[in-house]
Amino acid sequence: MDNERQIRNLTLVGFMGTGKSSVGRLVADLMHFTFLDTDGVIEARAGKTIREIFEQHGEPVFRDWERRIVEELTRRKKTVIATGGGLPANEANLASLKSHSLVVCLWAAPEKIFERVRGQSHRPLLNEPNPLGKIHELLAAREPFYRQADVLVNTEMRSLKEVVHHVIHQFRLARGHPSHP
Ligand code: S3P
Repeated sequence: MDNERQIRNLTLVGFMGTGKSSVGRLVADLMHFTFLDTDGVIEARAGKTIREIFEQHGEPVFRDWERRIVEELTRRKKTVIATGGGLPANEANLASLKSHSLVVCLWAAPEKIFERVRGQSHRPLLNEPNPLGKIHELLAAREPFYRQADVLVNTEMRSLKEVVHHVIHQFRLARGHPSHP
């Protein structure tokens, strides 16, 4: 691992519906870290939901919000950061996150993601006639970015609790304090 890196925080990246927020909240609780969700920060600052931002201003404006929030995160410590699914599909965001955190990607196959997100309407990118097709398309485009994470965790065969413990173990290993079995 790059010696210049200071792993003060833990960042979760991954596609919509892979469990970043649920996992992140639990990991933060267990490690006594602060939990922060980039979508939540954007909604609070903009005074609008993500859906409203997409509808009223378009995706590029939302991506600008993400870019600004990511730069603010460089000052944080002891924080678990859950990111929006498209946020790491930008080299500058990924590089910035890696400068202060261990980046963990939660992974699931398109069909599994579809099962988890179907029936939900707050994700503008999936409000379309063929959401499964869209998931395939976006996941293929984003895979090269997700693969740049420090750790890739397949969430399909693991319970929420198992994912949480795996993530904490990886974080401790990266900081040189392995957890006891
Ligand atoms: C997006 C994912 C969403 C949210 C926005 C765009 C994406 O976050 O940031 O709807 O581009 O994949 P979640 O991954 O938390 O659903």
